[in-house]
Amino acid sequence: MPFSIDIANVSKSFGKVKALNDVSVSVGKGELFGFIGPDGAGKTTLFRIVTTLLLPDKGKITVNGFDVEKDFKSIRKITGYMPGRFSLYMDLTVQENLNFYAGIFNTSVKENYGLIKDIYSQIEPFKNRRAGDLSGGMKQKLALSCALIHKPDILVLDEPTTGVDAVSRMEFWGILKKMKNYGITILVSTPYMSEASLCDKIALMQNGNLLSVATPDKVINDYPYKLFKIRTSSMQNLPGDIKSFGNIKSVYRFGDYIHFAVDGKSGFNERDLNRYLTETGYRNVELEKINPDIEDCFLELMDKEGL
Ligand SMILES: Nc1ncnc2c1ncn2[C@@H]1O[C@H](COP(=O)(O)OP(=O)(O)OP(=O)(O)O)[C@@H](O)[C@H]1O
Ligand SMILES: [Mg+2]
Repeated sequence: MPFSIDIANVSKSFGKVKALNDVSVSVGKGELFGFIGPDGAGKTTLFRIVTTLLLPDKGKITVNGFDVEKDFKSIRKITGYMPGRFSLYMDLTVQENLNFYAGIFNTSVKENYGLIKDIYSQIEPFKNRRAGDLSGGMKQKLALSCALIHKPDILVLDEPTTGVDAVSRMEFWGILKKMKNYGITILVSTPYMSEASLCDKIALMQNGNLLSVATPDKVINDYPYKLFKIRTSSMQNLPGDIKSFGNIKSVYRFGDYIHFAVDGKSGFNERDLNRYLTETGYRNVELEKINPDIEDCFLELMDKEGL
């Protein structure tokens, strides 16, 4: 498959901060590709390099065969970018924002209306409202419409769902799936691990490092340990007590539960742990073997890399 975006050994530092450390990823044409990682992972820095707004210190990136350094003008023509902080002009109306973005790219809203119709029709009733007066979910739809209005081959969306309500977030992912039907390659970043499974492929990032690049299913299948969740009448000292039981790879809080991982070959036995905890004074021990989700995999990979 000819790669749409090829990122090879890219590093970027800001003073002493290594924002990207030898990052290599290839994104296939038409893929919905997620960069998942917490604050400071390097997502925005990478996206700014891909969209030619920033130069790498080292490495090479091509977008549809164009080099980010030499061919930046060509890349800008074929790329739509929705930066994390909304790119809208808050004093302009919905319609004025869209016309403005179409204008920069020498196109018109009419020419490419088909592409944004599904999304834009939802905010069209408010077309004379100032962007600043829209709700978060509506701003997000307008920003996406603006990024799409010149019919880009590549769409780069930096944390488009951060700070948006759960319903609008799901609706937004539905829209992205549909965009794939137009053959648009989509790079999207998110701090929400739960959104990873909605991507064709994901890159897990932490402190400028790539921890893993694979399909969400493969990341989960590659999880090397047996994982359990546990809850008892008293949670405070539970992580420490589980650790002192021995042979535990990792223990961490996970919502209302504690998750812990054990090596499948360690001879760990659920009944023994249960007995040990009861003897230690715990009551109502709920212990269950579970399948990891992306967040468990992320924590395990971080542990492995010593990050
Ligand atoms: N212009 C800059 N000057 C100095 N440091 C920077 C600059 N841009 C990014 N950094 C640093 O580089 C690291 C990576 O930042 P980046 O914004 O790429 O991460 P991110 O994954 O987008 O995080 P967030 O979730 O906060 O948006 C951080 O430590 C950040 O403070
Ligand atoms: Mg960012």
